[in-house]
Order: sequence, then structure tokens, then C-alpha cells
Amino acid sequence: MSRSAWLIQRIARERLKTDTMYSQLLTHLTKYNQQHILHFWDALSESERAQLARQIDAIDLAELAQLVRGGSGRGAAKSNDWAEMARRAKPPRTIRRTSMDSRNAGPRPVGAEEAQERGEAALAAGEVGVLLVAGGQGTRLGFTHPKGLYPIGPVSSASLIQIHIEKILAIAARYGVHIPLYLMTSPATHEETVVFLDCHERFGLPADDLLIFTQGTMPAVDASTGKLLLSEPGSLFLSPNGHGGTVAALKESRAIEDALGRGVQRLFYLQIDNPLVPICDAEFIGHHLLHRSEMSSLAIRKKNPDDKVGNFVSIDDQTWVIEYIDFPGDVANQREPDGSLRFWAGSIAIHIFDVAFLDRVAMLSDALPFHMARKKVPYLDKNGRRIQPRSPNALKFERFIFDLLPEARNTIIVEAAAEDVFGPLKNAPGAGQDTAEHVQALLVAQYHGWLRAAGAVVADGAAIEISPLFALDPRDVRERIQPGTVFEGRQYLR
Ligand code: UTP
Repeated sequence: MSRSAWLIQRIARERLKTDTMYSQLLTHLTKYNQQHILHFWDALSESERAQLARQIDAIDLAELAQLVRGGSGRGAAKSNDWAEMARRAKPPRTIRRTSMDSRNAGPRPVGAEEAQERGEAALAAGEVGVLLVAGGQGTRLGFTHPKGLYPIGPVSSASLIQIHIEKILAIAARYGVHIPLYLMTSPATHEETVVFLDCHERFGLPADDLLIFTQGTMPAVDASTGKLLLSEPGSLFLSPNGHGGTVAALKESRAIEDALGRGVQRLFYLQIDNPLVPICDAEFIGHHLLHRSEMSSLAIRKKNPDDKVGNFVSIDDQTWVIEYIDFPGDVANQREPDGSLRFWAGSIAIHIFDVAFLDRVAMLSDALPFHMARKKVPYLDKNGRRIQPRSPNALKFERFIFDLLPEARNTIIVEAAAEDVFGPLKNAPGAGQDTAEHVQALLVAQYHGWLRAAGAVVADGAAIEISPLFALDPRDVRERIQPGTVFEGRQYLR
């Protein structure tokens, strides 16, 4: 066969292949009224066609249709009637305490010493690892990089991820062990996070102690029509599938096997945007162990019934988080005889998991419900114009990690003082709360408290930052600072 005849045959074969692909996709999409996403097909290159076909293939269109109608997902139980559930709820099993550090040296709860010892023993035995999720797009913050790169250190401008890693290193050094970090990224954050960590040599974390894995995605749909949105002519708008996507991603990446192979039996879970998390807090770990809990959570005491945090409740002996938006006012306002809120425990996304539990529920990960949110999603219209909506135009679907709680046995909720553990970075400068300015003020207040508890004299306006490598908590500060030492101006203790 001549070269030109061979070429013609090859082109014909390729055309047949893409024509077949097109007609198969069209048939499939038409069934769900989503055929509009093939609008630009003729103008796409072969690799763009293949990419779009892969994306379509990965979506369960029947499930998506069900979600748009208000369901909670194919494998999930039917949508919950939160108001009805909240009215049957009781407060969950909790450990009350007022402070995890010595600033507000309130009474420690019964069992605190024993829990501390038990947690320290688990840490010293190398049984604890850290699970840090950093896959979110950080849309409210408006930062052009993954949130983990945000320079939050009030004096040092250390990034969020540096602060978390330094805590892990300091804890590992305290107990003379390796503490592996399981870091979850998403397609939106992966590459930059990896490059950033490489450039900074993982801030000192040994390469063997870092396992990075990537979570899955979900498409967004137009809020009024339920139609899929395109971000490019050959690509759907996809966003990370929520921190509940951690469970499936842990399993798929074989992180669970890695942990079990190292003898790591518990994972301390945190989210990238809160630099106040007391990573691997020994007392919290100890309570988890003493109660033989499979999943435990830290909680803060709500100040007002309508505080914007999820509510820990117990329903039929299972622990649940009911989001503030779904928690009816009459239940939120219930009071104890002493006037305090009956449902006082607010969720702050800090948990401990048994690795064996994560392994068990990985099989159920498809059964975790999806939560729907209205968001602003830029998209291509049918003329190929990029539209930047001014108000929420789309529905996004996410799974939430706290929906694992009802699956867990012996859950225990442990109270912490908000100012010690909770300072999430969510919003761009100028917002009323959860901005970098707020988070930095919380960090500085914490460092002031630690220094004063050690007998130092700290000027009120002093910009002081303490690296976790210098001190992890007030106990470390007492060992390193002479009483009477004066702190004023700007100082970074490292
Ligand atoms: P948020 O739900 O607050 O999202 O996530 P976000 O990405 O930080 O910010 P917005 O809502 O887009 O403005 C809380 C934590 O969970 C992680 C985030 O990285 C953050 O640390 N997360 C969220 C994931 O790892 N994956 C997700 O799919 C969603």
C-alpha cells in the first residue's frame, strides 16, 4: 500500500473512532438531558475529546440527576429530615473541660491525667499519624494559590503548611518517634503544593514521613436548569468532592495500608486552614483510647444558639453533626436548668480516627451523603463566552467528613477552649470574621498567654510569634524562658 493510501485509511479509521465516541456519548448524555456539553466537539482536538470523554465517563449522571432533585446520593440513605432528627436528639457523650493550656487554668476534667498519660504512651509508641486535608479551593479567601501556602505567621509570614509541619516535627522530637503526615490535595491544589514543599525541602519533614494523595472531583451544575457547566470547550467544571472525599482517597492511594504497615493505629485529622489546631494533643488522644472510640472529635462551647458551627448531637445512640443551617431554632434555644445551652458542642473539624475504622468505612464511602451548596461558578456559555457570575449561579456537591460519626462506635466529644484551638482562615481582608487579621490576632494572643504563664513580661501590643520548633505549648515555654524576661516590639522565637 502506498504511503498516501495508508494515511487516508488511518484518517478514516480515526474519524470512525471519534464519530463512534461522539455518538455513544451523545446517546448517554441525551438520556439525562446533558447533551449540550458536546456543543464544541467539532472544534476540539483529539486529546481534548478524549479528556472530555473521560470526565463524562467518571460521572454518575443518574446520581447527579437525583442530587439535583434534592437527594443525597445514590448509595446514601434517603435525605435526612434534620428538623425531625434534631427534635429527637440528646446531647452527645462528652468530656467537658475549660482549657487545654494554662492560660485559663480551669479545673481539668476527671480522667484528664490518665488520658494524658495514655495519649503520651500511644505517641511514644509511634502509633499516631497525622491526616491533613488541603484540597479545598479556598474561594472565599481569594488567594491565588492553595490555602496552605498562605503566609499566616504574624511575624515570620510562615505559611499555614509550614506551621503544621513544624508542629509535627516538634511532637516527633518530643516523643523520639517518626510521625507520618498523610496530606490530601485535590487537582486544584496538588501541583503547587508539591512544588512548594519541594522548594522548602518539606520544611524538614523526612521524605519517608510524607505521603501526598489526591481526592476526587464532582461536577457543578447550573442552579436553575441542573445542566452541567463547562470551564473550557473540552472540559467540565469540576471541583473537589469535599473533605468527605478523604475516605475514598485514603483507600485508593493505599495510605491506609501504609499507616497499618508502619504500626500507625490512629490518625489525628485536621484541616489546612486552622493554624491553632493542637496537633496530636496527648489528652485528646488519651480520651479517644480510654473510651475505645473509633472516631472522636474536639468541640468548642457555643456562645449563642445560632453560632455558625455544626452541632454535635446524639440520636438513637449515634453521634451526628447537624449543620447550623439545618438545626431548628427551638432546639438550638433549649437550655439546661442552669441556663446554659443544652446543645452546646460546636464542631471545629478536628478529629481522631482509628485507622481500622477508616479501613472499614472505606467500603461505605460511596454511601456518605452529598451536601449541596449554591456557589459562584464561572462557565462558558453556548457562544464560548466566559461568564463570571456576580451571584451564586451553580450547585456544587460535597461529602463531609463528619458524616462518618454515626458509623463509629463509642464516639466521644472532647471540649476545648475556642481561643486555644480554633482560628480558621476563611475570608478575604475586610470580612467581619475568619480573616488573616483575625487569625494572626488569635495566634499572637496565644503566644502572649504562654509567655505570661511562664512569668515573662509581655507588652500588650508586642508582635510575638513562637515557632512550634521553639515551643509547642506553655510547658515548653516554661522550660525555655526565664521568669521576668521582657518581650516588646516584634520577635520571632524559633
Ligand atoms: P471549606 O469547606 O472551608 O473550603 O474547607 P475551603 O476550600 O477552605 O474554602 P471555600 O469554601 O472554597 O471558601 C475546610 C477545609 O477542608 C478542606 C479545605 O482545604 C479546608 O482545609 N477541603 C475542603 C478539602 O480538603 N477538600 C474539599 O473538597 C473541601
